[in-house]
Amino acid sequence: MISCLTTFPTNLRTLPSVDRRPSVHVGWRRRHRNPDTCAYRTKKQVTAESTEDDSYAGVAPYATNAPFVSALMAFAERDPAYFCFPGHNGGKAAPAMLSQLFGPDVFTYDSTPLPWIGNLFSSKGPLTASQKLAAEVFGSSETWFLVGGSSCGVMASIMATCSPGDFLVLPRNAHISATHAMVLSGAIPKYITPEYSSLWDVAGGVTPSQVETAIEELKEAGKRAAAVLITSPTYQGICCKIDETTKLCHSHGVPVIVDEAHGAHFKFDPRLPMTALEQGADLVVQSTHKVLSSLSQSSMLHMSGHRVDRERVRRCLEALQSTSSSYLLLASLDAARAQLSENPGAILGKAMEMADLARLRIGRIAGLSILDAS
Ligand SMILES: Cc1ncc(COP(=O)(O)O)c(C=O)c1O
Repeated sequence: MISCLTTFPTNLRTLPSVDRRPSVHVGWRRRHRNPDTCAYRTKKQVTAESTEDDSYAGVAPYATNAPFVSALMAFAERDPAYFCFPGHNGGKAAPAMLSQLFGPDVFTYDSTPLPWIGNLFSSKGPLTASQKLAAEVFGSSETWFLVGGSSCGVMASIMATCSPGDFLVLPRNAHISATHAMVLSGAIPKYITPEYSSLWDVAGGVTPSQVETAIEELKEAGKRAAAVLITSPTYQGICCKIDETTKLCHSHGVPVIVDEAHGAHFKFDPRLPMTALEQGADLVVQSTHKVLSSLSQSSMLHMSGHRVDRERVRRCLEALQSTSSSYLLLASLDAARAQLSENPGAILGKAMEMADLARLRIGRIAGLSILDAS
């Protein structure tokens, strides 16, 4: 069995070889040595002995609650020899200072995308299975893993809903990625100025009536909102009335994107606000790395319903993301989701208790006040 990469250098295409695919000879010598005679089996012999299991390169993809992590572990256990990128060659060519900093193991898992494990644009394999599990846990119809943070998710959501010249309703204090998305998509902003508390010196959320006014103002000018973007919670933790806003927008046929970068944990404790998906949003972006436990830069984009063209979202993500998406980041998303589906109460319960205690103690310090939920 020979494993191959999805891409191959053009110069190899000119070679008159039978199998021109550049190979990742995954521990070839070790795996294909006859234990009795110590002789290496020929490629022909090995091919003849191949089983169906070889389509997954011997990886047991669904052995654990984290299919992507388990596939990656199985891959590493095979002690692969690398004839492909990344150039650190499984750590052998890594800068010594980096090996000291990270330890050697991390390089084994930092593999190039492998066909049987998948990449962000695959439609089967452990990575796809992992994204499906995330969709189940977070309650979406489809979930995409992101390696460019929520910035990438916000941009893809806007690009998937707004064409050049379309209007996007959004708060003035939306994240910078929304501005970048308008540059890329050619969408025109219809800004809402959120409420501002001079007492706390923080901006609030946008209200349903502000959104309605924006949609109506566009209508009166003979224009139409292509999408509404809401940030909830804000960086300071202020949430909007998403359910009312989505009902209102949907009655006008307008999809709602929620930048829930700071609210990926909402689903996992009843004391927290309802999630944007539970409140009817069409596209929801969450920074799994901010409030859950995945590695920095790893996020998720969730979709619900059929108001947004799924294929267009997928294509926008393809345009924005790397074809060499980091397996480390993707594994961390798979693991973060598995951690939550196994024991959500235990993880967030403790954090909530600690937050309550911190609030109580800070509130007792003269000169400090606590911004509460009311
Ligand atoms: C409200 C909001 N949305 C989106 C982002 C972008 O998230 P990321 O850093 O995951 O790209 C941020 C970052 O801080 C944010 O505060």
